[in-house]
Amino acid sequence: MATSRLPLVAGNWKLNKTATEAYKLVAEMLPGLRSIKGVEKLVCPPFTALMAVSRLIMDSDLRLGAQDMYWEDRGAYTGEISARMLAEFCQYVIIGHSERRMYFGETNETVKRKVRAALAHALVPLICVGENLEQNEAGQAAGVVSRQVHEALAGLDIQEAGRIVIAYEPVWAIGTGRAATAEAVDMLIRNVIRPTVGGLFGEEIAQGVRVLYGGSVDPDNAAQFFRQPEIDGALVGGASLKARSFVGIVEAAQA
Ligand code: PGA
Repeated sequence: MATSRLPLVAGNWKLNKTATEAYKLVAEMLPGLRSIKGVEKLVCPPFTALMAVSRLIMDSDLRLGAQDMYWEDRGAYTGEISARMLAEFCQYVIIGHSERRMYFGETNETVKRKVRAALAHALVPLICVGENLEQNEAGQAAGVVSRQVHEALAGLDIQEAGRIVIAYEPVWAIGTGRAATAEAVDMLIRNVIRPTVGGLFGEEIAQGVRVLYGGSVDPDNAAQFFRQPEIDGALVGGASLKARSFVGIVEAAQA
């Protein structure tokens, strides 16, 4: 990890935990997280738990994020949640997770709109990109990821671009227990993601933007990712649902 980029470990809870369960889990994590310095820590519970968790963590340095949002601020969009609503509780919002792309019709275009709306409300968009298995096997990973990054970010101004976080999550590594190799991730970030950001906003932004890895990260394999110079942290699914394993991953990021 490069020292100038603050490491970030984010938990993506997906469709898990009621508000009551979420409160309990975060209460369990807080003592272990408190002593860990030099790492930004973030949990992203379901919408229904955001208010309860935000009160619980008020006096801690744990950050709160949502897992998705809609790009309009308000209006006749039944069932949706806007950046303006999230901004009361959250600092972050995950955008374009592969499960949203796969099951809910998210496209590079909708990702782009959401990124803009999040930034307009001072939320940090944690933008997910990554190739699926078929694309990986066809040698298309670089092209797919570069296009996803380009289409999500094109048109932002420099200040906005400096605030985003990117998570590289190869779809075949998510929830499979089959993580990518740290070296391959490092290479893809160095050769594809940073140059794509650099092409849009210049070298300084490209070197300053934090890029996380996601996909079957656990307390046992986390350190090998964090040792890589281009990997600035992790987006963690399954292993973020247990206090011990999430704290363990955050500890690995500190070391
Ligand atoms: P996983 O999920 O850690 O369970 O593989 C990662 C993610 O989907 O963000």
